[in-house]
Amino acid sequence: MNIFAVIVAAGSGERFGGRPKQLAPLSGMPMLAWSVKRLGDRRNITGLVCVVPPRGGDDIRGGLEGFGVGDIDAWPEGGETRQESVRNGLAALPPEATHVLIHDAARPCVTERLISRLTDALRDHDAVVPVTPAVDTLVHVEGDSVDRVVDRSHIAGVQTPQAFELGLIRRAHAAAKDTGTTASDDGSLVLALGERLATVEGERMNIKVTYAEDMAIADAILMLETRE
Ligand code: CTP
Ligand code: MG
Repeated sequence: MNIFAVIVAAGSGERFGGRPKQLAPLSGMPMLAWSVKRLGDRRNITGLVCVVPPRGGDDIRGGLEGFGVGDIDAWPEGGETRQESVRNGLAALPPEATHVLIHDAARPCVTERLISRLTDALRDHDAVVPVTPAVDTLVHVEGDSVDRVVDRSHIAGVQTPQAFELGLIRRAHAAAKDTGTTASDDGSLVLALGERLATVEGERMNIKVTYAEDMAIADAILMLETRE
């Protein structure tokens, strides 16, 4: 197995306040540096590809400088959607890659433990996503009323990184492009092919930074971890 990572960092941060959040300062480093370091430091991950906004590559490379993030193999440009950005990232992987972890720069609190769970699972599965069980009561809302309560015992949230055999995820992305299928993550595209999508336990602390106020939570999580 030759595992590479693709980090997508080509979004424009509309919900964050209309500015790209990848370089926003977080516990002493730009947000993107956390993911790059944590994936790049793993011995069983051979290399990294970082997908950057169109014409934004220099800014990102400059922003990471001085934070000791190590080598990145390629800096492809992203597209209009996350899905397009991932596709460009997959296309930029070197020929020796056999497996890939696809990760959102917007999840800076990814841990070594989670990365290992995913790479271990690749020994038995070709597509693996981390899930966390729903903790809130979940309801179906119609207008401004609750229609019904959803049985949450089989409901989980899905995180990144997500781990795949490279041929399978490339096939899933190509099929999605052909059929015009869109999805908010990559596991969904594997499922759309009718292939098995395995799960590993995700982490409650692996939050996604979507709104500006999420930065305070991510900051607290990273501080707790470094104190451990
Ligand atoms: N992303 C990307 N290319 C896009 C859109 C998103 O690479 N065209 C990346 C983001 O940089 C982020 C991840 O996909 O790391 C998850 O996206 P999200 O949290 O939605 O970030 P943004 O798209 O930047 O935010 P928003 O949707 O609020 O504009
Ligand atoms: Mg988005």
